[in-house]
Amino acid sequence: MFSYHQKPDWHIADSEATPESKFLDRRSFMKTMGIGGLMLGGFQNCQAQSATINTMLPPLPDYTKNAAYKDAGRAITEEKLVTSYNNFYEFGFSKSDPAKNAKNFSLDPYTLTIDGHCDNPMKVDLDQIEKLGLEERVYRFRCVEAWAMTVPWIGVPLSKLIEQAQPNSKAKYVAFTCFYDPKRAKGQNDKRYDWPYYEGLRLDEAMNELTMITTGYYGKRLLPQSGTPLRIITPWKYGYKGPKSIVKMTFTDVEPKTYWNTAIPKEYKFYSNVDPEVPHPRWSQAREQFLGERLKNKPTELYNGYGKQVAKMYADRKRDLY
Ligand code: MTE
Repeated sequence: MFSYHQKPDWHIADSEATPESKFLDRRSFMKTMGIGGLMLGGFQNCQAQSATINTMLPPLPDYTKNAAYKDAGRAITEEKLVTSYNNFYEFGFSKSDPAKNAKNFSLDPYTLTIDGHCDNPMKVDLDQIEKLGLEERVYRFRCVEAWAMTVPWIGVPLSKLIEQAQPNSKAKYVAFTCFYDPKRAKGQNDKRYDWPYYEGLRLDEAMNELTMITTGYYGKRLLPQSGTPLRIITPWKYGYKGPKSIVKMTFTDVEPKTYWNTAIPKEYKFYSNVDPEVPHPRWSQAREQFLGERLKNKPTELYNGYGKQVAKMYADRKRDLY
């Protein structure tokens, strides 16, 4: 089990950086990925350890396949990679920790609180969210650590849920708050970070046709390590803009604080749109590495290739959006 006192071998001093920085070190990336002879064996083990069905929740209801997003222009990433190589710091700092440490984690019975500047604040359960109409969409996903994957998410466009809450004219942003349970999520005892994890979007970003509140992938419910029972997905932004296991959405009139910006303001800005020409202070974003491939040899696309859907939202902003 992850413990604050058990530092992994690549651990660096608290004062130096954050977990994000640790993971991009190529050696630890290769090591964690088990690239080379160990690769397949490593993933098979992880898969065997984590059940492929999240048994604590009812099966995923029927869903449609959105024809506009049936093909992301890249091969779908193997499920076993997506479920064994994770960032979910509540459950540990190494990529294989979440699959092990979140294994029996559940937020069941689940309630999402929607409040703030809206005419219809509410509490909804999973069933009420899924009844808004589940659909599958294959999206590209890009982490700031320069790895990328392609995932068949199943969820509801976030705009449908937001419409139910009826944000009023004061609502300019949506703030997301994740669960807080340091007894079960041992990473939340790490006092270097500000828990629970939190994120935010501008209201138009949250309403964008691409933004999803997802409850499943690969035809099944999300496993705990992927953010049970639901997470936000914004495929044109770096992965950390998509909070997992959220319990609250708040409409605000000011730009919400975000977990990583609070941790290292110089390195993580609010917008965090994928941009090959805006390097992270320590890592180029020019190229990316697909999970399961050896080299970082794919050119990164502006907005992760979703400019058609999102570029209009940033027409009057400079590309300083890291
Ligand atoms: N959400 C929570 N609650 N906690 C986290 O640590 N990590 C973020 C994001 N959402 C994170 C989170 C980061 S840095 C990334 S890259 C993605 O989740 C990783 O999602 P994955 O593990 O499904 O690949």
